[in-house]
Amino acid sequence: MYELTTVDEVRRRRRADEGATWGLVPTMGFLHDGHLALVERARRENDRVAVSLFVNPTQFGQPEDLERYPRDPERDLALLREAGADVAFSPAPEEIYPSGFQTYVNVEEVSLPLEGASRPGHFRGVATVVAKLFLQCMPDFAMFGEKDYQQLAVIRRMVADLNIPVDIIGVATVREADGLAMSSRNAYLMPEERSKAPALFKAISGAADAISKGGDVAAAVAAAREKIRDAGFGKVDYVEARHAETLAPLGSHDEPGRILAAAQLGRARLIDNVAIPR
Ligand code: PAF
Repeated sequence: MYELTTVDEVRRRRRADEGATWGLVPTMGFLHDGHLALVERARRENDRVAVSLFVNPTQFGQPEDLERYPRDPERDLALLREAGADVAFSPAPEEIYPSGFQTYVNVEEVSLPLEGASRPGHFRGVATVVAKLFLQCMPDFAMFGEKDYQQLAVIRRMVADLNIPVDIIGVATVREADGLAMSSRNAYLMPEERSKAPALFKAISGAADAISKGGDVAAAVAAAREKIRDAGFGKVDYVEARHAETLAPLGSHDEPGRILAAAQLGRARLIDNVAIPR
């Protein structure tokens, strides 16, 4: 596995691989089985797999959140070697944001609700770094987890709007046996909180089920919100039924829908989403 840290090295490696397809898995490191499922999918569909490991400062609101974000670069590289990745790209912040940096990508409407409302500026940071990674690595495909469903929608919109020649592949959320979506942020959960955490998935799955059986959307969402609170979560940022592609409020039972939620549990802010079965 090539362990690269500069844009120049990545560009040279990409050129040396001319004619081979690259699948890129953008990550912020602290890898778990959800990331490894993305690597596995990239492996199946590409000649080479590149994984970026970069804790992107521009997508964090609070400096403390960025500083405490979990990191274990040695373990990440060992996991990627084992998973058969070909390239690991771990740039320093100054490599991605050199002094004088002032160009950002802003995907408008789809970035505004949900995570965008709770974390202003978050998707501007995500879209900017992902656009840069695409230009640096020139992948044919890029894999993103459905766990960050709005992120996936933002990136699909950006790629379509800017004619970026990368196929975006959304990969189903990987869950623990009790339903909790895998996330690097689960590391913040204390044991007692960890046992409460699957209630988020159960509550939104219940709402999706009720809506798919013709139940009232607002009532199903309100019931899910209550279940999350009753399970011992703190602030519930949102529980919403949205159109699966545009993320506009769900208009009717005939549209493809998704329930998305975010809530605080101890030090961890958990997000999750599920499809409304049709
Ligand atoms: O999903 C993530 O880990 C990050 O938001 C991403 C896509 C790597 C951009 O920093």
